[in-house]
Amino acid sequence: MDILDPAVERYLEGLAASDDEPVLLEMEELARRNGFPIIGRLCGRVLEVLGLTVGAKRIFELGSGFGYSGYWWSRVTGPDGEIHLSDGDPANESKAMDFLERAGLAEPITYHVGDAVEELASVPGEFDIIYCDIDKGGYPDAWSASRERIRPGGLFICDNTLWSGRVTGESDEADVRSGWTEAIVEMTRAIEDDPAWRSIIVPIRDGVLVAVKSHRRR
Ligand SMILES: C[S@@+](CC[C@H](N)C(=O)[O-])C[C@H]1O[C@@H](n2cnc3c(N)ncnc32)[C@H](O)[C@@H]1O
Repeated sequence: MDILDPAVERYLEGLAASDDEPVLLEMEELARRNGFPIIGRLCGRVLEVLGLTVGAKRIFELGSGFGYSGYWWSRVTGPDGEIHLSDGDPANESKAMDFLERAGLAEPITYHVGDAVEELASVPGEFDIIYCDIDKGGYPDAWSASRERIRPGGLFICDNTLWSGRVTGESDEADVRSGWTEAIVEMTRAIEDDPAWRSIIVPIRDGVLVAVKSHRRR
């Protein structure tokens, strides 16, 4: 199921072509060649605009691959920010740091290798943004681990929350792994039902959930 009409997607991608830059293009080419699921240009823009909107300086990312989404976060914080990337596959760390160094964006980055939720627990303090893009079965635990770690006015952002339309129950596409669709829906419902948070799924690419922690006490 297409989330966006392909013509609309092409239009938006045409606008975002102004971000063409050699290292970014190299990362996108590597993802294409290896079939690696990066967030892509439009979702990258969504992250950058949201990060700039809340003035993010301290960000934790769950599921970082070879640093493509980290590239956009680094554009947000600048070199004096603090960005924690995390991934379970040790091969991704050196690729990410090589790309980010060549793009001049490595300074605020610390890359953690290990289970992302455990790595989050190992870094103390509150974050302006926690971004989640791990295996989808882990989404409910990622949300539970993140919700108390974000400052009031800060954001929890999560990719693939429309999951090619499978979350609607009206898609013919089989789940990639058993239970992933249910886990995405469970997390989305938990956020929707949490009175301290307001959220919306932005239907760009595969659905980007954006949740803001209320300043009000409830
Ligand atoms: C969709 S890719 C991330 C893409 C990345 N956010 C980007 O756009 O550049 C998911 C990544 O999360 C990692 N991953 C999945 N589950 C994980 C977990 N529980 N802990 C740590 N890493 C995990 C995988 O190794 C993979 O590299």
